[in-house]
Amino acid sequence: MKGIVFTEFFEMVEQQGGLDEVDALLEGGGLATGGAYTSVGTYDFRELLSLVERMGERSGVPVPLLIQSFGEHLFGRFRLKFPEFFEGVEDAPTFLAGVEDTIHTAVRKLYPDAELPTFDVKLLPCGGVEMLYASPRPFADFAEGLIKGCLRHFGDTRSVQREALPGGSSSTCRFIVR
Ligand code: HEM
Repeated sequence: MKGIVFTEFFEMVEQQGGLDEVDALLEGGGLATGGAYTSVGTYDFRELLSLVERMGERSGVPVPLLIQSFGEHLFGRFRLKFPEFFEGVEDAPTFLAGVEDTIHTAVRKLYPDAELPTFDVKLLPCGGVEMLYASPRPFADFAEGLIKGCLRHFGDTRSVQREALPGGSSSTCRFIVR
């Protein structure tokens, strides 16, 4: 997983709980990097999961919820860091419809070693979007948070429904945004 995800994670933790909270997450040890991340580096995604698990132990908030709210927060940060991806996009369904072919394709050019999921996206006749998420990594909660962050950014009041797929896991699911 690209370091930008880790550096943004720690910035969020610092913003919400201060440097003491950052130290508390790092103090648990057991991180291959020892907690030194750079935005262009690449790290094991399990490290992010361990950090979020620690956050869950400290706060009592369930891990899936923490991952979702990090995704929602990160969308706002992406908005600031990558304004070019938002040019000419007027609504959330249009943005979401372009995640695979436009956004993540551009991310791959910026970070050739990025580990990205795949989204099979369909615009629905009602104006909503169906997104089939699949990844070798278990980040459906993260995807849900990013989708919610996208809706919030565009002031869109649609909601996100999530359905398990056969053999359901956090690595694959269907989102219906309507
Ligand atoms: C400006 C918009 C966006 C940017 C710049 C962006 C960029 C990125 C980057 C840099 C990563 C990490 C790559 C790595 O781990 O090596 C990532 C991962 C991911 N992105 Fe995006 N993304 C954007 C929007 C979205 C949206 C709207 C969604 C959801 C529909 C999404 C879903 C995901 C998921 C689920 C992952 C985690 C990897 C996985 O599941 O395997 N992204 N994205």
